[in-house]
Amino acid sequence: MEFTPEIKKATQAIYQKISKTIPEIEWSTHAPYIYEINKLKKEKNAVILAHNYQTPEIYHGISDFSADSLALAVEAAKTKADIIVMCGVHFMAETAKLMSPNKKVLLPDMRAGCSLSSSIKGEDVRKLKKQNPGVPVVSYVNTSADVKAETDVCCTSANAVKIVNSLGVRKVIFLPDDYLAKYVASQTDVEIISWKGTCEVHEKFNDTEINEIRKNNPGIKVIAHPECPPEVINASDFTGSTSGMIKYVKDNQPEKVMMVTECSMSDNVQVDNPNVKFIRPCNLCPHMKRITLPKILDCLKNETNEILMSDETIEKAKKSVERMAEIGR
Ligand code: 13P
Ligand code: SF4
Repeated sequence: MEFTPEIKKATQAIYQKISKTIPEIEWSTHAPYIYEINKLKKEKNAVILAHNYQTPEIYHGISDFSADSLALAVEAAKTKADIIVMCGVHFMAETAKLMSPNKKVLLPDMRAGCSLSSSIKGEDVRKLKKQNPGVPVVSYVNTSADVKAETDVCCTSANAVKIVNSLGVRKVIFLPDDYLAKYVASQTDVEIISWKGTCEVHEKFNDTEINEIRKNNPGIKVIAHPECPPEVINASDFTGSTSGMIKYVKDNQPEKVMMVTECSMSDNVQVDNPNVKFIRPCNLCPHMKRITLPKILDCLKNETNEILMSDETIEKAKKSVERMAEIGR
């Protein structure tokens, strides 16, 4: 697509904001897509929801709402748009559909999965329930609709402890993230039965690299996502959801920070916190990175890659997500 003077002018304000993150030579490729997508979403009354791990040109260039997975689910329920384009992974688009079953929900690349979501099926949950009769099931929102259909209440990293405590029981089945389960267990007296799922991005971090970075950067604040292994969380100053981590930086304005999570977070947060220095050992989520501007434009233009589920699945799965939204953050 051509980077015309008209497009240059129309996208100038966006580029000024992110010019420290995106080199000018790359901008000439992104800008025509940003221009077209922003025009088309108005014409079609579409809303673009983007997860915090999306690249800066998506996060700052075209998204109407960027957030963690809990806020994306809540926003999907509230929106007045006719079409939701989910710039995130498959479980996020499915969750949006559960929250807004009458809306058209599009995912720019249907292969954008998640190692946690693919670690467990509805059938596995049924087996666990048989083995633990009467024990409620709390599932991370990073699961398929089939798993959500077998779940009493969903949670995200932003409210996992609150949701587990809200049930008022002695024991819960907590699926599928083993590390998040360990984190929740460290924050509550409720006994946790977990599953062996892990996030392929966060499991790669270790405390040796964090301690090394601390030694070389005295005073640095290390903030980690709760999908990290326990030794990483123990070596960190703060643990929270992706939006919790962003809020920590905004509120505390540390001189130096290391966000122990997906790479794009530091790029996105740097734009709004120019005085904070980001030390960036990070890992890429290959699923989040499947979402690109050309794919977003294509799916919005042709209304392809629609999330479709049977009425029965929606009916069964949405209760656990709605219950989570009622309990909140
Ligand atoms: P958040 O709910 O914290 O945004 O996390 C979602 C996710 O997939 C992190 O890997
Ligand atoms: Fe899934 Fe991990 Fe990617 Fe988040 S970062 S979408 S949990 S694989």
